[in-house]
Amino acid sequence: MTEGYPQCVEFLQWALPRLGLRWGGFRKVRRQVCRRLRRRCAELGLPDFAAYQAYLERQPGEWTVLESLTHITISRFNRDRSAFAFLASDVLPALAARGADALRVWSAGCASGEEAYTLAITWRLRLAADFPAVRIRILATDVDDAMLTRARRACYPPGSLRELHEAWHAVAFVERDGQRCVRDEFTQAVTLARHDIRSAPPVGPFDLVMCRNLAFTYFDVEGQHAAAARLAGVVRPGGALVLGKHETLPAGVEAFEPWSDAERIYRRTAGIRMIPSLGSPAAECSPSSPINPVSAPSAASTRSDDSS
Ligand SMILES: C[S@@+](CC[C@H](N)C(=O)[O-])C[C@H]1O[C@@H](n2cnc3c(N)ncnc32)[C@H](O)[C@@H]1O
Repeated sequence: MTEGYPQCVEFLQWALPRLGLRWGGFRKVRRQVCRRLRRRCAELGLPDFAAYQAYLERQPGEWTVLESLTHITISRFNRDRSAFAFLASDVLPALAARGADALRVWSAGCASGEEAYTLAITWRLRLAADFPAVRIRILATDVDDAMLTRARRACYPPGSLRELHEAWHAVAFVERDGQRCVRDEFTQAVTLARHDIRSAPPVGPFDLVMCRNLAFTYFDVEGQHAAAARLAGVVRPGGALVLGKHETLPAGVEAFEPWSDAERIYRRTAGIRMIPSLGSPAAECSPSSPINPVSAPSAASTRSDDSS
C-alpha cells in the first residue's frame, strides 16, 4: 500500500468513533496505529484505506481485528513517578491503616504488568514493614493476550526500569539474557487475567483501582461514563481510583472526589451507589478462568512496534 498519513488520518476519523473511541486521544500515537493499519492492509492484499473501509463493511468480523490494532500498550515501571510517590506516602498507608488483613488492588489495562509489579515492589520495599499484618493482593487485567503473555514472563528491557529507584533494581530484578526479570517474591502478589474493561468488572470491593492511560484517554464520552460507573461499583467507599497523568473523570461523575488533583487520584465517596443498570459484577478473575473470554484474535502478529 502506497497511501500516506493523510489518508490514514481520514480513515481513523471515520473508524474510531464507530469503535466507541475518541479521535483526540490518539493524537500522539496516530503514526504508530497507521503503521499497523498499513501492515494489516498489506496482509489482506488491499491497495488503500478506501479498500480497507469497504472490506470492513463487507466483513464485520474485521472490526474486532481493527479494534485490537488500536490498543496502545506502552507502559513502564514507576510511570509518572510522582503518582507512585503519592501512593506510597499517602494513599497506601491510609488504605492499609483501616485494619483489614489484605489490601485489594485492581490494575485495569495493565499492559505487560509494569504498573502492577511496581505496586508490588513499592509495597514490599517501602511499606510492608510498617504494616506486617497486611498483605497486598493485586489483580492485573488486560484485554490483549499478547500483553498478558509478556506480563506472565515478567522480563523487560532495561529501559523500562528507568523511572524506578536505582537502588531497587538489584533487589527486585534478576538479569536474564539482557533483560530484567522481576523476582518471584514480587510477582507472587500479582494475579493476571484477561478482562475487557467495557464488560462487567471483577468482583470487588477493591481498596485501590488503577485505570491509567486507557478509558479516560481513548474511549468516547459515553464509554468514559460507563467505565466510571463500573469503577465506582467496585471501589469501596474511602478507597482510591488512580487515572493517568493527563486524564480526568468525565463531568458529572459524583462517586469520586479528588484525593490529589495533581496526581489524578480520587477517593470513592460514601453513600453514592453503583448505577443499577450495570448489573451485578462478574465472577472473580483468576489466571485459569478468564472472566471475559473474547473472540478477538490477538494482534501480536501484526504489531511489533510498541512493546516498550
Ligand atoms: C497505554 S496501556 C496502559 C498501561 C498502564 N496502565 C500504564 O498506564 O502504564 C493501555 C492498555 O490497555 C489495554 N486495553 C485497551 N483496551 C482495553 C479494554 N477494552 N479493556 C482492557 N484493557 C484494554 C491495552 O491492551 C493496553 O495494554
